[in-house]
Amino acid sequence: MLKGKHIILGICGGIAAYKSAYLLRLFIKAGAEVQVVITPAGKEFITPVTLSALSGKPVISEFFTANTGSWNSHVDLGLWADAMVIAPATASTIGKMANGIADNMLVTTYLSAKAPVFVAPAMDLDMFAHPSTRRNLQLLQEYGNHIIEPASGELASHLVGKGRMEEPENILKAVDEYFTKSQDLAGRHILITSGPTYEKIDPVRFIGNYSSGKMGYALAEECAARGADVTLISGPVSIKAKHAAIKTINIESAQEMYNASVAEFPQCDAAIMCAAVADYTVENQASHKIKREYDEIPVIRLKKNPDIAAALGSMKQDGQLLVGFALETDNERENALAKLQRKNLDFIVLNSLNEPGAGFMTDTNKVTIIGSDGTCQEYGLKDKKLVARDIVDTLTGKLS
Ligand code: C5P
Repeated sequence: MLKGKHIILGICGGIAAYKSAYLLRLFIKAGAEVQVVITPAGKEFITPVTLSALSGKPVISEFFTANTGSWNSHVDLGLWADAMVIAPATASTIGKMANGIADNMLVTTYLSAKAPVFVAPAMDLDMFAHPSTRRNLQLLQEYGNHIIEPASGELASHLVGKGRMEEPENILKAVDEYFTKSQDLAGRHILITSGPTYEKIDPVRFIGNYSSGKMGYALAEECAARGADVTLISGPVSIKAKHAAIKTINIESAQEMYNASVAEFPQCDAAIMCAAVADYTVENQASHKIKREYDEIPVIRLKKNPDIAAALGSMKQDGQLLVGFALETDNERENALAKLQRKNLDFIVLNSLNEPGAGFMTDTNKVTIIGSDGTCQEYGLKDKKLVARDIVDTLTGKLS
């Protein structure tokens, strides 16, 4: 899977830097093109001459090349890369990455990188165990980076504990597995509904909700990154899909979302119903703006909206999967399971309103995935991008 891939190998100033030469060699052998970016301290541990000889490219360390004045563009590098692998990653660089301190070429390149980033920490056991290192690694993980945990063993200090950089073969394996898995939705077509719906009261007012669309958009990006063609049916939100394989259909009302979903579902392998659809719409929608000067207080009469998930559940053919979401305040699991059965879903993602940091408008979420057989898998509080990864992992495991 690494053949032809563009990899930035970031090297920091730690004794494990000597192993980076071997890792570089493995990447080259696997057919990848490697650009080394090294921190100033990294050069104290391994010479750029060794690394440029192995990679066949000049090593980048400074923002400018002193003798020519030419500029090393971290933005171009970030766009060029299919992956960035930082091995060894020292406590200092991990701290800078977690906090956006871009005072060298490596961290600047990291901040510009659009590709997945792998971080292989290497440090003394006490540095690794320090709460600041733990917190910074946790932050990097929440930002969507892949942490390749260090192994336990004898360290350069001769102390024994956790902090040894993972062996180059295993780092290569982790990156290779990522690329193998990363295309597990190739040739699939996934439908995703996302965001709120707006139900018009009059030409300038509506009934809506606080859904930001972040969870649905994260799901769309994750499916597209893993090779799927995605149709994203989105209510009004302030974010935009980035991946070229995502076709966005913008709608406002639940009825419009229903029409688009019913038309698209027959062409899809799976649908993920992530939208916060209004349960009711306005029956007596006014064609002109309702004026304050009216003598009588206007009455807004409601009628039921169609249940899109349930409609797709009744259309579902063999081989198609349907995923729903549930936001519950009481008897969470029982209610979610009942909803799964009522709507003929294959699994349901329960997010609790009782959890701080979960649900509407946040960047994080905490979910439990409930299968049609009632099995529950609980996950911790994570960035919505990582929650999307867990949900899509469950989906790919069930696709035939
Ligand atoms: O019934 P409830 O609204 O709690 O169900 C939530 C699930 O059903 C979500 O997956 C949501 O996207 C979907 N839904 C829908 N159409 C509706 C209401 C909910 O697709 N009208």
